[in-house]
Amino acid sequence: MINRRKALKFLTIIGGALLWPASWLQAQAQKIAFKINKVAKLREVHGWAILKIKDRQILFVRDSENTIKALNPICTHKQCTVEYSREKGRIVCPCHGSEYALDGRVLKEPSTEPLGIYESELRQDGLIVVTLEEIKYTEMKKENGESSENKKEQKDGQ
Ligand code: FES
Repeated sequence: MINRRKALKFLTIIGGALLWPASWLQAQAQKIAFKINKVAKLREVHGWAILKIKDRQILFVRDSENTIKALNPICTHKQCTVEYSREKGRIVCPCHGSEYALDGRVLKEPSTEPLGIYESELRQDGLIVVTLEEIKYTEMKKENGESSENKKEQKDGQ
């Protein structure tokens, strides 16, 4: 006969085993892929487009023949939607003039926080692959101020 303590231990082990796959799956960043030819605005270098993917909007900027950037298009100042400026080669906010680099760094205030970015890849077969996990790069100045490097911070793990 099974006593109460053994039954609880058994149920705990079984419950943990059932929950483990679900939590493991959640920890994996979701990736999506689509053909660049499906989005006319991205077919040429310096083309850009804001696309709705799953539950979020993503700003794509084709920054070279073989690369593409993906960012959160919501300005961190007061949440206007940003745009890419071909003339400036950077992201600009039409509301109060903040400007951002293509890695999300703030180049011009009033915004002080970087845009979120998504890891993205433009493959040789024309497939854009985006990881749906927003990250931010914060600039870290070295003590002598001559050079800087970027630090990757995880914002959310969706
Ligand atoms: S909302 Fe973008 S600069 Fe103010």
